[in-house]
Amino acid sequence: MTQKKPISLTGDRPTGPLHIGHYVGSLNQRIVMQEHYNSFIMIADAQAYTDHMHERVKVKNAILQVMEDYISVGLDINANTFFVQSCIPEIQELSFYLNNFVTVSRLERIPTIRKEIFEKFASPDKCLSDIPRDIPVGFLSYPVSQSADILIFQAEYIPVGRDQLPILELTNEIVKNFNNTTNSQLLKKCIPIFDKEKGTLPGLDGKAKMSKTLGNTINLNSTNDEIMTKVKTMYTDPKHIHISDPGIIEGNMVFTYLDYFYKDKDHLCELKEHYRKGGLGDSQTKKILTDVLIEFFEPIQIRRQQIDKEQLLIILKNHTERARNIAAHNLAIIKQRLGLNIF
Ligand code: TRP
Repeated sequence: MTQKKPISLTGDRPTGPLHIGHYVGSLNQRIVMQEHYNSFIMIADAQAYTDHMHERVKVKNAILQVMEDYISVGLDINANTFFVQSCIPEIQELSFYLNNFVTVSRLERIPTIRKEIFEKFASPDKCLSDIPRDIPVGFLSYPVSQSADILIFQAEYIPVGRDQLPILELTNEIVKNFNNTTNSQLLKKCIPIFDKEKGTLPGLDGKAKMSKTLGNTINLNSTNDEIMTKVKTMYTDPKHIHISDPGIIEGNMVFTYLDYFYKDKDHLCELKEHYRKGGLGDSQTKKILTDVLIEFFEPIQIRRQQIDKEQLLIILKNHTERARNIAAHNLAIIKQRLGLNIF
């Protein structure tokens, strides 16, 4: 029955607990989609190793943490197939074949990869236009492996954050090259699914992206006290010193977050007007945001309390086995097409 639904696939690198940026960027999309799609959700531990080889224990521990986050935000174990990437070696086998449909220079041009390489591997004195040569091959080629994640499940709908779009473009080029080369229509193009209006939620400090390393996030496993403390650190308008001073909304993270999370838009407009004129203090706006977030977090916290961790591990194992069977089946068809079928 579920076979008839369109297939969707997405995943997260387990490098720590997920945060509200993940929620806004992708998890909320998955919650909406889970009823209507045959959804695969991958915990991408193998991909995490492309830049976390030195933090393997952290990655291992984060697998269940991420799984707990999934269940806590309302992803349903009966509506999704959750799996651990490294337990499906067929993905890496497919990835090895797909590597031959992509050039090194194409990988080096992927904006997401360039950005990540400079953030993670380049020393500051390196010339910014040249990608350094001393980066792991695995990192440069993870977009190919990511394409294999998608194509091995014949997934056509991919809920992701914006930063992943260039990688999906590559996936579709691989599809085209593969189909041309094998004179078939076997692989299907994938379609990214993301909220065009919402974009990416910036970090608490106003930096473009939330990042676990920068600590500018609110994790989905936060307690109310932690939420309150985090909101207090948020970047507002540095020139808004006295309550009576006029304040700026643009770039003020408290208002940016209220835009996402505060449902009463009319009241929000009034608050912005008041803040602009002067007379509304940051501690007041932060209190409003704290309350809004605490309300948002409540169902997440309740679901989390109900989780039986041992049981969750068993569920993840069973789901992974199910996913592996599908992957093995589909890989056999792809290998057949490639002529890798001597026996
Ligand atoms: N690269 C994605 C991220 O960091 C995780 C991921 C791995 C993924 N494989 C995928 C996302 C396949 C979508 C489809 O968020």
